[in-house]
Amino acid sequence: MENNNNRRIRIFDTTLRDGEQAPGASLYPEEKIRIARQLAKMGVDTIEPGFPISSPGDFQAVQQISRELQTVEICGFARAVKADIDAAVKATNDAAHRRIHMFLSSSDIHLDFQLRKSRQQVVEMARSMVAYAKQFVDRIEFSPMDATRTGDEFLFEVLEAVIAEGATILNIPDTVGYALPEEYGAMFRRVRQSVRGGDTVEYSAHCHNDLGLAVANSLAAIAAGVTHVEVTVNGVGERAGNCSLEELVMAIETRKQTMGVETGIIISEVFNTSKMVSRIMGFPIAYNKPIVGRNAFQHEAGIHQDGLLKNRSTYEIMDPEKLGIPRSMIILGKHSGRHALKHRVGQFGVELTSEELETLYTRFKEKADEQKIVTDDQLMELVGSTVEGQMEAFTLNHVQVVSSSDRSRVASVSVRNNQTGEEKVYSGTGEGPIEAIVQSLRQAMPMEVEFSDLEMHSLSTGEKATGEAEVTILVGGQTYKNTGIDQDVLIAVAKAFVSACNQAVRMQGNPVPQISASSAS
Ligand code: KIV
Ligand code: ZN
Repeated sequence: MENNNNRRIRIFDTTLRDGEQAPGASLYPEEKIRIARQLAKMGVDTIEPGFPISSPGDFQAVQQISRELQTVEICGFARAVKADIDAAVKATNDAAHRRIHMFLSSSDIHLDFQLRKSRQQVVEMARSMVAYAKQFVDRIEFSPMDATRTGDEFLFEVLEAVIAEGATILNIPDTVGYALPEEYGAMFRRVRQSVRGGDTVEYSAHCHNDLGLAVANSLAAIAAGVTHVEVTVNGVGERAGNCSLEELVMAIETRKQTMGVETGIIISEVFNTSKMVSRIMGFPIAYNKPIVGRNAFQHEAGIHQDGLLKNRSTYEIMDPEKLGIPRSMIILGKHSGRHALKHRVGQFGVELTSEELETLYTRFKEKADEQKIVTDDQLMELVGSTVEGQMEAFTLNHVQVVSSSDRSRVASVSVRNNQTGEEKVYSGTGEGPIEAIVQSLRQAMPMEVEFSDLEMHSLSTGEKATGEAEVTILVGGQTYKNTGIDQDVLIAVAKAFVSACNQAVRMQGNPVPQISASSAS
């Protein structure tokens, strides 16, 4: 039963500030603006778009995001120094809702080796800079950096000082990802109970993932009463990253009745956002990453596939479609059984007698043993050569690419249209070989095809490694994705593109071409 008294957890997204601090993840201002728009569309409560004093580009990004996104709160990040605060105040000036987020180290390790300041000096800096910022902005968030290695006595002293000067949100960061969940939750409880004024402010959790505990620690903080959680998309961030937005949000969404909390995130935008951030930052997502990884909703084991086909909830606790994940949940490989095979070919409109299924199953297992997984196109090729009369719309027969570093690349492809029985050669050019292949293949298609995304992976190691290409296309406003596998990665891309086109033809209701297997060979 739905509980409408759930406590609302505010999602503070710091992908564009702490996430961007991940090595190699830095973003141009226009890229930040595109991501910020998507974050707002997904329903985050607060966006920290950058560190205004750090560069003119960051200042400009924070300023433009403040002007454009008037429904979300914008946070200006600053060290506890006047110049930083001035820049953060100025950059966020046009935001409809804003806060200043000021940080200052509090652990002895940081004070001795990094700041080279005494505890007394640090308390004084924190006190005076919060008072300074408070003249300009009412909502002041204060973060004692490395709080989880600080110790109660000094942590409480700093926090009391900043509350007295008007800090409204205390963020207690686990900067180095050191805390255990119970410790982290208990720390918030002690602060609220023991710090003077501790019950008058809001609390925020900010966890790093060095021990893989960032989500668990953030959940422990929520259980201890925290209302703001600082996260990044895909968990990007310094070293092992930050608390992952999608993991935290889906943990809350999936277990909200037990936890009694909820977020304002629009679940159907989670996957799009993750893809966008991964693409723009150039940060690939691990296959087994919860929620958004390629394997997160895919099943290869026969017993699991059988269970899923009977009822999705047998092996899935979330519905990938609600997350906007377009992929098919069943991966056909050597562990797959007859039931999954029959189901998959059935999705292509192919009906098999039990004899045909047996023949196909034997050939399918041989293929799966050779190359681990069998793509839809390969499966349909097997169907075409096993079962008379069932074929895909297009067959790619030949690919040739001429590449040289000082002139444009030229490709030629030979594609058979199985509906008309006609095989033709098409050629195209491009600045790179992939563009040349795509230009050639597009001409073979009777519909407009937009090439929207490409992911490449290696399926094995060594010189003979096979490459897997995952191509996403747009046809008539709909997205189709398919894979191609080959030792030659360019041929893998060509195969994936044709497979995606075949999928588009199938899904858009065009009849599966019915021609006899002999005339198709
Ligand atoms: O990890 C950290 O301590 C931070 C703060 C400065 C909030 O990112
Ligand atoms: Zn951090």
